[in-house]
Amino acid sequence: MAKAETLLYLDGVSVSFDGFKALNNLSFLIGRNEMRAIIGPNGAGKTTMMDVITGKTRPDEGELRFDGKIDLTAHDEAEIAGFGIGRKFQKPTVFENQSVRDNLMLALKALRGPFATLFHRDDDAERSRIDTLLATIRLTARRDDLAGDLSHGQKQWLEIGMLLAQDPELLLIDEPAAGMTDAETAATADLLREISKTHSVVVVEHDMAFVRALGVKVTVLHEGSVLAEGSLDHVSNDRRVIDVYLGR
Ligand SMILES: Nc1ncnc2c1ncn2[C@@H]1O[C@H](COP(=O)(O)OP(=O)(O)O)[C@@H](O)[C@H]1O
Ligand SMILES: [Mg+2]
Repeated sequence: MAKAETLLYLDGVSVSFDGFKALNNLSFLIGRNEMRAIIGPNGAGKTTMMDVITGKTRPDEGELRFDGKIDLTAHDEAEIAGFGIGRKFQKPTVFENQSVRDNLMLALKALRGPFATLFHRDDDAERSRIDTLLATIRLTARRDDLAGDLSHGQKQWLEIGMLLAQDPELLLIDEPAAGMTDAETAATADLLREISKTHSVVVVEHDMAFVRALGVKVTVLHEGSVLAEGSLDHVSNDRRVIDVYLGR
């Protein structure tokens, strides 16, 4: 991939916890407007990888760059969020006692950057942005309902909408399909495919039907490093991937 198209760059990143290497010389690139699926056994380092990208955990070694020039190791979590890296944790953290619409409104109000002043001045712009977000996350009909009354899957979508309200360039999403019905899982794959037209997305997931539905390049992590990379069919036929992950 040409250097200009690389949005996220990890090179030789290592992290140890009490001498145990959770990330071990991890290197990969994510392109602009690329969606990448990350798979791998429990303990492979998938969540730790997101922790180092977002500044929650500092790497012991290695290079982490965003948008070419930004050295992520030199910035804290708030600054990294401000650069346009948004993260969704595994458990939804919506405000249950607020309506769906108000949850999106709160996320929009917390916005930094060039859009912030626009929305604070202009109620029409804000309304239209919220309508667009509601349509994207398939919750237009639930806009006035309490977030607490949504299904588990719908709460995940609302949280993705709250992330989108912040207009990140890169979204990191940890196990979105966990606990979802098959129909919700399929709808989530559609949603992420739509989002990836205009954003870069890194999604960690164990559900292979979901990963197949994403139809994107897959990186397999094992013991803190990249074990294999390529199409799902390519990595699924890799003997080492079958041995450490898929064959179990
Ligand atoms: N804060 C921490 N302190 C100690 N060990 C940790 C910490 N975070 C992760 N680990 C360890 O690092 C390894 C990778 O964990 P994690 O990144 O959560 O894996 P995954 O998300 O792929 O299941 C695991 O062995 C885990 O126990
Ligand atoms: Mg994890």
